[in-house]
Amino acid sequence: MGKVHITTFGCQMNEYDSARILDILTGLGYRAAAGREEADLLIFNTCSVRAKAQNKLYSFLGQLRDYKKTHPQVRIAVTGCLAQQEGRRMLKALPQVDLVLGPDALPDLPRLLPLVLEGRRMAEVKLEGQADLPLSGRRASLVSQVTVMRGCDNFCSYCVVPYVRGREKSRPAGAIADEVEALTAGGAREVHLLGQNVNSYRDEEGVDFPRLLTLLARIPDLLRIRFTTSHPKDLSPALMETLASEPKVMKGLHLPVQAGSDRILAAMKRGYTRTRYLDLVRRLRETVPEISLSGDIIVGFPGEKEEDFRQTMSLLDEVGYDFLFSFQYSDRPLTPAGVLPGKVSEEEKRRRLLVLQARQREISLTRHQALLGRVAEVLVEGPAKKGHGWLRGREAGGRTVNFAGPPGLRGRLIKVKLESATVNSLRAVRLTPLETIAAKDLG
Ligand code: SAH
Ligand code: SF4
Ligand code: F3S
Repeated sequence: MGKVHITTFGCQMNEYDSARILDILTGLGYRAAAGREEADLLIFNTCSVRAKAQNKLYSFLGQLRDYKKTHPQVRIAVTGCLAQQEGRRMLKALPQVDLVLGPDALPDLPRLLPLVLEGRRMAEVKLEGQADLPLSGRRASLVSQVTVMRGCDNFCSYCVVPYVRGREKSRPAGAIADEVEALTAGGAREVHLLGQNVNSYRDEEGVDFPRLLTLLARIPDLLRIRFTTSHPKDLSPALMETLASEPKVMKGLHLPVQAGSDRILAAMKRGYTRTRYLDLVRRLRETVPEISLSGDIIVGFPGEKEEDFRQTMSLLDEVGYDFLFSFQYSDRPLTPAGVLPGKVSEEEKRRRLLVLQARQREISLTRHQALLGRVAEVLVEGPAKKGHGWLRGREAGGRTVNFAGPPGLRGRLIKVKLESATVNSLRAVRLTPLETIAAKDLG
């Protein structure tokens, strides 16, 4: 039977969808190819959030134009957000592409694929898919991802996601619990719940996100639950309480602010002010003092003046993120910001990004250093990059910790003492004695 190779761009939503695609194709008898040259079905699961991701795809597809002439049996499918955005236009513009499939049209793959194999070229980009598209046959990883909702209703003025992923849909809590149980039975110990705005999760029976967390925390072999992304405008006191009181819920929150100036926040249509955001952070730290915070920032939004940028810089200092993702603003089709005046030059955006990232590195290091001497609990994920005898894992806030120990500790919660820090990780010594762990488990 055929072999498939999937290239995934973009966010964890796409990683999850790629696993679903593989799931569907395995059901049709396909096997995963080791490399692109081995595959007779090439799938590109695409992202449209910034122009960079789009350019990368087009350069891949450009190279494949000649490849297909010498390998006429190969089929190329483009799925994901760019497929949704471009639809039939992509078939017209790129003769090497055989199938264009939007994120909600993935269940149509078994119906369309035989036609594509016969030589037809097709596009399917409807956007009214069901919310519940669980994975059945996938292998669990120690840390597994589970989508709890799809789409987004927020329409931030710069963002293409609501247009390419459609309206917000929450999966039924029962189906999510079933999937997490199956993953746990397969060896998962930590799950990451995914959604563009998990704080507005609500299924048809009225289960909200704090309740979903409580429900999942009852699964015996599951050790940890983490989630992303939390939109600041919907962060509720109930969620803060659950973060504080449920031991399995990790003490880390991704709470993207995007900008520090009220003028820009309003133009971005984020639905909160700087003061309100800082107030949330303050309350969060009162409720969960050890919380680790990460965020997203966009620099160079249309109309962003030097003074607005200064406000973003001062917000970084006031919040003290442990980790930050930062991006240069990129014009996206369909979005209102794409046609706003006051565009910031590429050069200036780049300058602002570098200034911001340099400052954040200092802040991250200081935040890490403040933890030294403390005891932390690490879920061991595997060997550390730095090599022999070292293990890598994460503490309860999601920070990376390296320490010396035997490989058999993988999948266990181990107590360590934090001893030194870099910008991106912490180094520690093990406190949990090996004698408490059965010899057969130490490998
Ligand atoms: N739902 C999440 C973010 C999803 S997109 C949230 O609301 O926080 C991930 C990040 O990409 C965003 O947080 C934003 O920082 C960035 N992003 C989105 N559109 C962008 C654009 N047009 N240009 C630059 N960065 C963008
Ligand atoms: Fe995009 Fe805003 Fe939705 Fe996040 S909340 S996906 S930034 S529209
Ligand atoms: Fe994700 Fe990119 Fe789509 S960030 S939702 S894959 S546009």
